[in-house]
Amino acid sequence: MNSSMKYDRVQVALHWVIAALILAMIALGLFMVELPKQSELPPGEESVRAFYFLLHKSLGITAAMLILVRIGWRLTHKAPPLPDTVVKWQQKASSIVHGLLYTLMLAMPISGYLQSMYSKYHTKFWGIELPRLAEANDTMKATFNEVHEVLAFLFIAMIAIHIAAAVKHKLAKSGVIERMTF
Ligand code: HEM
Ligand code: HEM
Repeated sequence: MNSSMKYDRVQVALHWVIAALILAMIALGLFMVELPKQSELPPGEESVRAFYFLLHKSLGITAAMLILVRIGWRLTHKAPPLPDTVVKWQQKASSIVHGLLYTLMLAMPISGYLQSMYSKYHTKFWGIELPRLAEANDTMKATFNEVHEVLAFLFIAMIAIHIAAAVKHKLAKSGVIERMTF
């Protein structure tokens, strides 16, 4: 494949590292909210909920940093043009889905951080306590909790469409997947 038809190596590396992190974050988020709280456990049993919450927050902030680098890179480096074999409405649909994926990649960590900041617990990044920008507030916490949850399901739907499109291109051997490989 002609190299002008492919994403550059930085974009490819960031796409796959961030994709893996996001899929792991979604699985972790859905898993950890089902874990029992300390108050729901019989005496003597220790809850592992806080451990997974701390992991989710640290991993999420790490992902956010990589996402910012990726967006910075993408704003300064164009996407290669799609082959003419991809019909116009699909080109349009793919740019809408990609735009939504970028928006959600930003909105997820921001809403997650805000709900964490408004809770009574400090937000820690791999053990480092982050500065609190606002006092704990139950109403604000509940609002961002809801926002984070609704956006998570929208994100899952967009990723499902994105992966379904990738599978379709793979089956059709259209050469589109190779654009996002080294
Ligand atoms: C790529 C970024 C992120 C993704 C994809 C993600 C995904 C998710 C998902 C799927 C859930 C479960 C939703 C539910 O059923 O309630 C969740 C919950 C949660 N997330 Fe995130 N998250 C991200 C970033 C963050 C960050 C950066 C923080 C905080 C610093 C955070 C804090 C939380 C908290 C506290 C919950 C539990 C909410 C509750 O108690 O119901 N998330 N996240
Ligand atoms: C295993 C699953 C995945 C596969 C097979 C896959 C495949 C691809 C491919 C082939 C492209 C290039 C499309 C083109 O030719 O223009 C692409 C672009 C993209 N992917 Fe994925 N992807 C996956 C997961 C994800 C995830 C989890 C995200 C996170 C949100 C994501 C976000 C994006 C974005 C934003 C673009 C557009 C890049 C740009 O033009 O700036 N992908 N993906």
